[in-house]
Amino acid sequence: MNRYDLVIRGGTVATAADTFPSDVGIRDGKITALGQGLDEGQDEIDASGKLVLPGGIDSHCHIEQMSASGLLCADDFYTGSVSAAFGGTTTIIPFAAQHRGQSLREVVEAYHGCAGPKAVVDYAFHLIISDPTAQILGQELPALIEDGYTSFKVYMTYDLLKLDDYQMLDVLSLARREGAMTMVHAENHDMIRWLTDRLLDGGHRAPKYHAVSHARVAESEATSRAIDLARLVDVPMLIVHVSGAEAATAIRRAQDLGLRIYGETCPQYLFLTAADLDRDGMEGAKFCCSPPPRDAANQEQVWRGLVNGTFQVFSSDHAPYRFDETGKLAAGPDASFKKIANGVPGLELRLPLLFSEGVGRGRIDLNRFVALASTNAARLYGLYPRKGTIGIGSDADLAIWDPEREVTVTWDALHDNVGYTPYEGRRIEGWPVTVLSRGRRVVDGGALHVERGSGEFLRCERPEAARPLGRRVPEMDPATNFGAAL
Ligand code: URP
Ligand code: ZN
Ligand code: ZN
Repeated sequence: MNRYDLVIRGGTVATAADTFPSDVGIRDGKITALGQGLDEGQDEIDASGKLVLPGGIDSHCHIEQMSASGLLCADDFYTGSVSAAFGGTTTIIPFAAQHRGQSLREVVEAYHGCAGPKAVVDYAFHLIISDPTAQILGQELPALIEDGYTSFKVYMTYDLLKLDDYQMLDVLSLARREGAMTMVHAENHDMIRWLTDRLLDGGHRAPKYHAVSHARVAESEATSRAIDLARLVDVPMLIVHVSGAEAATAIRRAQDLGLRIYGETCPQYLFLTAADLDRDGMEGAKFCCSPPPRDAANQEQVWRGLVNGTFQVFSSDHAPYRFDETGKLAAGPDASFKKIANGVPGLELRLPLLFSEGVGRGRIDLNRFVALASTNAARLYGLYPRKGTIGIGSDADLAIWDPEREVTVTWDALHDNVGYTPYEGRRIEGWPVTVLSRGRRVVDGGALHVERGSGEFLRCERPEAARPLGRRVPEMDPATNFGAAL
């Protein structure tokens, strides 16, 4: 009998720390051996000339989620997870989203009903908390954290989602007490509301004004405020989808002080600009997301944040809405920017874009790519080392990349249900050609090889990264640091 169910032979393995030539031996869905000249496996994959990387973890994607205004994402767990797999991602962490008045537990149960029968790769859930009542914070949330839902997102903007600072403090202090990770959508609600009203008063309705209304200073003000709220209660926190130089600087400054503030950015802030929102007619609606893409100078600053470690996570923030009455144009074919569904797709192209423009152009090395694509998210959300690395005992979630494969992006070749891609026509060098989840070939030879519903739910541990440092942070003023008393 063979010692391995599968051997990936002759490739170059890269983790967040090392790059080395190695075969990978897999048994019962786990990595059981690394080294050259492994015994023959029951099945073999020739990876010579290829890179063997941990499967990607997309830790910020919206799948089969109902927006607060009642719009359903275009991708369900089948199309979303298939699209993820074709782009080299083997774990997705979308959001079980609470709307006001709802029980979080019921939201989570309903979301399992969506995911279980459809996902083709493994998945965990973040929670979205829009209604932090005493019942939610006192009972439901601690129980859910115990059950493996150890991260949640809160919003500082959007009429139906936003928390005020008092509520933010309640949530952050609960995160501290329970060891959970808080993710924050940081934009100043009133700045955006005020700018939106002035723009509409002046008759400025086109999609391009979305970018004007979501000003960079609205992002940086809220980012700084969120950091200060976290600092007050002494708790780690992650700022999601950072778009602009000032917000990145605020995060960097906090990190320099020794605070455990983490940052995430996304492809739209590297590869799109506000000029894309000014395309003909309503075309610009395809590029409306929040925060919006900025300009070339901010793109460079976001790259810098990936290079210098300000950002630990590179996610897609895949928020898929079709360019029709079910999505972007739900409020009519000439709706004002205020009524256009927010979000861009990116699950499938997240990693090819970062590989091609990051590794291919020498901006980041392969190990940083792996860290941003997979390892750091596993660590931040309590999935490491089961996911996010290539090591003995880890799940055999692997993406075998052909670094020379050239692809010109066209939506027809993608697998989501969105109908367009913001990256149409872009040339990419480097592509994941074979993708394995727990040792199963999910994608190979351009085809899908697994059944609907074969993905598994992942309970997340309490992340080490969410543990407060307490008084060891030198900049924390003990006179105002109530963290220890909470
Ligand atoms: O525009 C965006 N990002 N839509 C998705 C929801 C969110 O805030 O991440
Ligand atoms: Zn957000
Ligand atoms: Zn999002």
